[in-house]
Amino acid sequence: MSVIKVAILGFGTVGEGVYRTIQSHSEELTATLGKKVEVAAVLIRNTQKKRNISENVLVTTEFADILNLDQLDVVVEAIVDKEPTFTFLKSAIQRGCHIITANKEMFAHHGKELLDLAAEKRVSVGFEATVAGGIPVIQTLRQLLNINRVKQVRGILNGTSNFILSEMREKKQSFAQALVLAQENGYAEADPTNDVEGFDAFYKTMILSRLAFGEEPNWQDVEREGITSITSELIEAAETAGLRFKHIASITRLGGQIKATVKPALVGKENPFYHVEGVQNAVNVQSDIVGEITLQGPGAGMFPTASAVVEDLVHVCLNPTVKRNLTRSQEVGTEFSKHDDKQETWLVHRLTHKPITPAITWIEEVEEGTYVINASSKEVKQLAKQQKNLLYFPIIGEYERVNQVKAALKAL
Ligand code: NDP
Ligand code: HSE
Repeated sequence: MSVIKVAILGFGTVGEGVYRTIQSHSEELTATLGKKVEVAAVLIRNTQKKRNISENVLVTTEFADILNLDQLDVVVEAIVDKEPTFTFLKSAIQRGCHIITANKEMFAHHGKELLDLAAEKRVSVGFEATVAGGIPVIQTLRQLLNINRVKQVRGILNGTSNFILSEMREKKQSFAQALVLAQENGYAEADPTNDVEGFDAFYKTMILSRLAFGEEPNWQDVEREGITSITSELIEAAETAGLRFKHIASITRLGGQIKATVKPALVGKENPFYHVEGVQNAVNVQSDIVGEITLQGPGAGMFPTASAVVEDLVHVCLNPTVKRNLTRSQEVGTEFSKHDDKQETWLVHRLTHKPITPAITWIEEVEEGTYVINASSKEVKQLAKQQKNLLYFPIIGEYERVNQVKAALKAL
């Protein structure tokens, strides 16, 4: 039986998960591909670390050793940083290998170049693991929603941030304690700033934008904010109002314009993201034919990510050339309304005094200094300028006036 030879670059959480899954699911791989899949080589950096790798596998710190193998069909990349990864993957494509990557930072920066080069060399690129861990959202957009015109994609795209927010709310852990746990579980990036400041979710958002709309917004125009301003006190205030904090990425295309934000927001019980807890991620796609689809699943960790990679392995081997170039011409709707003037619902926190202005509707005082209001983002920003330390977060969807309802029930 012929063999598919794979090299794995990196043997951390993801690399080791892929290695172990190729061993544990070799029967399924052989049955699906009609060929045996063998890991021929693993690239590492630190030769002192103990690793459980078969002695038949070449373990090396030199990428050149891997490129020089007699047979090499697929290169799986699970390293960190843009370089030397991009250079490695370009060389792998030049050699005629399919490539699979989990590295969203590199892919957000260089994905287009890799896809173009792969198309020229008639090999495939798998990047399912770059967004939302084990959720097959890339293949859903790439293969299953070709005719639908996508209007909006919203997602909880960072497992570490969602895990931290859940631990703080459910187990009353501090931010720092929850982050350490996320690191111990292998969810966090080598530099967790990428997770908690929203950079990781931003890269994933740009990859989704390219898939859903064929293009990206200007990176500088994307409002990006992480979860570091969310305190336990804020989480409790939100709970009192029947709301939960989620770190949400949103991309919308209207009138030839793409608008993206990556920031914390609040959702109520009716929102599909309300019950997405722990390391789970979720992606909600709105398109014209099917309507709304929400995919949910583990967003990080060894085996969920390995799942995305080995499914890509099958896909690149069975569909060896790129069929579509990820451009979409369709668009839906008209112009964005003047976004800054649109009325939205907000939770504002640490309000020292209520200004007298007809532009703000005061819906509810959740607790002292914390209000739910209706206002335009322009007004809220104005308020934040006037009142130092004010924090404000959008509420997505209908706000249920829980306290008023509770009060009314009590009064009965
Ligand atoms: P780890 O830090 O656990 O592992 C990184 C691995 O890469 C290590 O084995 C390290 O080698 C190796 N490495 C780093 N730089 C080099 C280099 N220059 N040359 C050779 N080897 C190198 O990271 P993860 O496994 O968590 O993440 C890997 C990639 O996958 C990242 O891009 C991450 O963003 C992405 N990802 C991670 C997920 C997760 O849940 N952890 C989920 C989805 C994507 P050594 O062991 O010798 O130090
Ligand atoms: N650090 C990332 C996260 C890994 O927490 O979502 C998965 O991409």
